[in-house]
Amino acid sequence: MPVKFYIPENQVPLEMHKVRVVQKLTLLPVEQRLQAIQEAGNNTFLLQNKDIYMDMITDSGVNGMSDKQVASMSIADDSYAGSETWNRLKAAVKEVFGVDNVLPAHQGRAAENILAEAFVKPGMFTLMNFHFTTTKAHITRLGGEVIELVDKKGLVPQSNEPFKGDMDLRKLKATIKEKTPEKIAFVRVESGTNLIGGQPVSLENMLAVCDICHEMGVISVLDASLLQDNVYFMKTREPRCKYMDTKSIYQLLASRFDIIYFSARKLGFSRGGFILSTDKKWTEQMMEFVPLYEGFLTYGGMEVRSIEAAAQGLLESLDMDYISQGPEFIAYLAKELDDYGVPVILPPGGLGCHLNCSEFVPDMPHDQYPAAAVGAAIYIAGGIRGMERGTLSEQREPDGTERFAELELQRLAVPRRVFTLSQIKYCADRVKWVWDNRQLIGGLRWVHEPKVLRFFFGRLKEIGYWQEELAAKFQEDFGDSL
Ligand code: F0G
Repeated sequence: MPVKFYIPENQVPLEMHKVRVVQKLTLLPVEQRLQAIQEAGNNTFLLQNKDIYMDMITDSGVNGMSDKQVASMSIADDSYAGSETWNRLKAAVKEVFGVDNVLPAHQGRAAENILAEAFVKPGMFTLMNFHFTTTKAHITRLGGEVIELVDKKGLVPQSNEPFKGDMDLRKLKATIKEKTPEKIAFVRVESGTNLIGGQPVSLENMLAVCDICHEMGVISVLDASLLQDNVYFMKTREPRCKYMDTKSIYQLLASRFDIIYFSARKLGFSRGGFILSTDKKWTEQMMEFVPLYEGFLTYGGMEVRSIEAAAQGLLESLDMDYISQGPEFIAYLAKELDDYGVPVILPPGGLGCHLNCSEFVPDMPHDQYPAAAVGAAIYIAGGIRGMERGTLSEQREPDGTERFAELELQRLAVPRRVFTLSQIKYCADRVKWVWDNRQLIGGLRWVHEPKVLRFFFGRLKEIGYWQEELAAKFQEDFGDSL
């Protein structure tokens, strides 16, 4: 069943689950929030969870588990080799994707490491709709180069385009021809896309990519980490999918891509990662790296209880009641903000609501990190932790110059089955306040800039005293209690 709305004209989503385990939250007063973000070097990754009211940094490994998942964990079979848990996971993969060949990895990026080790050689190219940070880091570490081929509609922040993650098929063909098929490590479709606002890819586009790859003799890879959101969008936005059941969509994709991998921290509501392929030859090519980097082939570095939960979670990824919840909460938040005039990525995608910070603080240069500055302001205003997905999340070019992001986004992730609607409304309210006071927001400068994945550990400082001014304005508007 598609999502239900209890006030249809307002598109207010109705949860098709109830909460049975709760975690207490704290909401620090604003002066303590100011202190916490400054101590964290204005990097939301360095904040402590005890100082956070709404943790919207990610949807990864923090999704709400179902009663069935929790129950399944109690029968996990903790044997080094030949575990029954592994057999149950394989059965769930077969049920959802119709595929027999499965390799484990401890999370999505570990699967990316294995893929890169198996297929990327120095001087080779990897073509994709859009990169993800860890994917790119593994490929470039091995001397490969990433070429992004997302259709130009994907980089338009606001439009009515339903599938902004689609690949430009003409460019794909031309690039394979130009670079030659032998030099292409693989073509990767990220579905949905992470760094361009959780935007989905259409079934039609993915099948066309596979056709081109098969025709031209290059390996096709699907990063299915965000596929459950993507399947929801296919069902609701793509006419040919309306009457297909979710399982037939997963299975059609699995029958056409050579390799599928995913982070089970997202797809599967659990932890871990998996690599699937219909043809055994690909599995065999990657297999040797699993015991080397991860663990034996029947646990792959994962805790067995997480594998049990992933098996059950994968089955739940077929259920429209479950997979609609994330996208519909995101759509609700995006609509609240858009109606108020806050610049958000439209149409809303999966994963989270994305604020377009180039419009939030239009005069701020990329190298003062507008998306990170807006993120710090949102934490000060609401104890809400988002994630920078802009220039700060990019790697510098080999010559040390900044690579300016195509989109300066602040991502407010909506972990699945976690927040209540009143929390989502609170988030909208505080972001609106930041928008109203955006003229106070200033830039950031580096205090410590790591060379690799700098967004994880880097520390920055406000330029001037804009954060103190913002906190003072907040106190003026809301009093001391908040
Ligand atoms: N691919 C995509 C599309 C992802 O979004 C992620 C993770 C990965 C691969 C790597 O998986 O975390 O299990 O190693 N995205 C998380 C996020 C980190 O917050 O967006 P992982």
